[in-house]
This record gives sequence, C-alpha cells and structure tokens, in this order.
Amino acid sequence: MKVFERTVDLQFFLDNCKNNNKKVALVPTMGGLHDGHLMLVEKAQALADIVVVSIFVNPTQFSKGEDFESYPKNFTNDKALLDTRSVDILFIPSKNEIYPDGTLLNYEVGEMGKILCGAFRPFHFNGVAQVIKRLFDIVMPDYSVFGEKDYQQLLIIKSLVQNLDLSVSIESVATQREVDGLAMSTRNQHLSIENRKKASLFYRQLSKAKTAIEQGKLIKFVRQDALFKLSVDFEVEYLEVLNANNLTQIATNTAEIIIISAIRLGDTRLIDNIVFRRLNV
Ligand code: PAF
Repeated sequence: MKVFERTVDLQFFLDNCKNNNKKVALVPTMGGLHDGHLMLVEKAQALADIVVVSIFVNPTQFSKGEDFESYPKNFTNDKALLDTRSVDILFIPSKNEIYPDGTLLNYEVGEMGKILCGAFRPFHFNGVAQVIKRLFDIVMPDYSVFGEKDYQQLLIIKSLVQNLDLSVSIESVATQREVDGLAMSTRNQHLSIENRKKASLFYRQLSKAKTAIEQGKLIKFVRQDALFKLSVDFEVEYLEVLNANNLTQIATNTAEIIIISAIRLGDTRLIDNIVFRRLNV
C-alpha cells in the first residue's frame, strides 16, 4: 500500500493510473477504522481498479465543545487493517494540505443540514460537505463510498454532487452491526463496559418500532412509544419516522420509511437508523 501525505504526490500517482484507464474509488474516513469501514473498502474494490482511503479528522465538522480533540486516533492499527485488505493508497493529509486557503466554510448544505443531527450540531454538515468537496477535488474519483449509518450525511453528499454537477458516483453500504445489534462506530470505543451493554437497547427499540409500523400501528403512536422507551435508558436527542428519500414528513402514500435517531449515553453520542419499505400503501 502506498501512503501519501502530500496532494501533489497523490495526484502525480493517480494521473498515471487514470492515463492507463484505471477507475478510482475514494473511501473518506476519519480513521479509528472498524469492520464497517472495511465493508466500504470491499465495495470500493468491487467498483474500481484503484482504491484510495483517506484518513483526516476534519476540524470544520466539529463544533466547539465536541470531541475533535479526543476523537479516537490509532494510525498504526488503521494502516495495518488497510494493508490486510490490499488497499492501494492511503492518503493522510495534514490540515494545511486540505485547507491551504483557511477553513472558512464555503458550501451551504441547505435545509437538510439543519434538521435531525444538524439541529444539534450546527455547521456540522457544512463542514462535512466542505471536506468531501475538497477530497473530491484532490482525488477526482469515479466512485466514492459511504456508510448508511450516517444516512443524513449520505443524502447531503448526494445532493452536493447533484448541486455542483460533480462527476463522481456516490455509493453506499448498509450499516454493519455488532452481534447484539449495535451499529459499528468509531465512537463505540468511548463507551464504558456498563454503557456498552446498555447500548444494544438502542437498535432493539428501533427494530421494535419498525415491526409495529409493519403491523399497521399508527406512526404517530409508534414514534411516541419508542421515544418514551428510549428515554428510560438514554438521553434522546431525536427520534423521527420520516420519508427515507428526503427526510421529510411521511405522507399516506410514502412507502420508503426511515426510523432515525440520535441518543447520548454518558459522554458518547450514538446515531442509528432503519430504512424499510412499508407495504400496502
Ligand atoms: O463519516 C465520516 O467519517 C466523516 O464525516 C467523513 C465523511 C469522512 C468526512 O470527514
């Protein structure tokens, strides 16, 4: 695996690949890699000839008081994991490489960036869009692969690509889960042993809500019930049942549904969602 720190070196190498008609896929990450990331890599490898994984903990997507400083970093482990998966390129840029002109936010993600996670993390999605646009400008990938756990982020990146008419295809991979159902996340390692056990109740409640909707229970009541039950064990930031295509309120004929939620457990913030099709609408 080649490791590049500088944009010019990466671009020189990639130009050569592209001149030889190789397709390039980018998997942007902030490190702290787990099996969920490795599934993104697998998908990227199925799509393209050359896979670039970037590791960059992007300061502009963290608000003051969030976990930017304590975000898990384990470069040796990350590199070893990517090596075992025969990743072609690891890109580990410095802040100056990514933001040579400063970090002023330069893309407005619009309404979708202000709801759900955006309501609790102002400017978060603007920061995500900023770094993703910059990475796309540097790598100019044919494909880029993201996890569906960060569903709102995925839709925002898709709309960024559409709004700016970028020629990259955005691909996604289903949320990977631990045996007890907890969605894999870099932040899970912050959980105490006790909270880690409790955390499995999060997905369990979302799954129960899905079953209730499938059984024809009224969405309004299913949501209220799930909110109440989650609040027993967690500090719930939000729990919504929405149209999965655009995160708007459900109409009577909406078939694709998302149950999406964010909770806090100790100092750790967890997000999760379930997307499914409602029958008989
Ligand atoms: O999902 C993440 O890890 C980050 O938000 C991303 C997409 C790498 C941008 O920094």
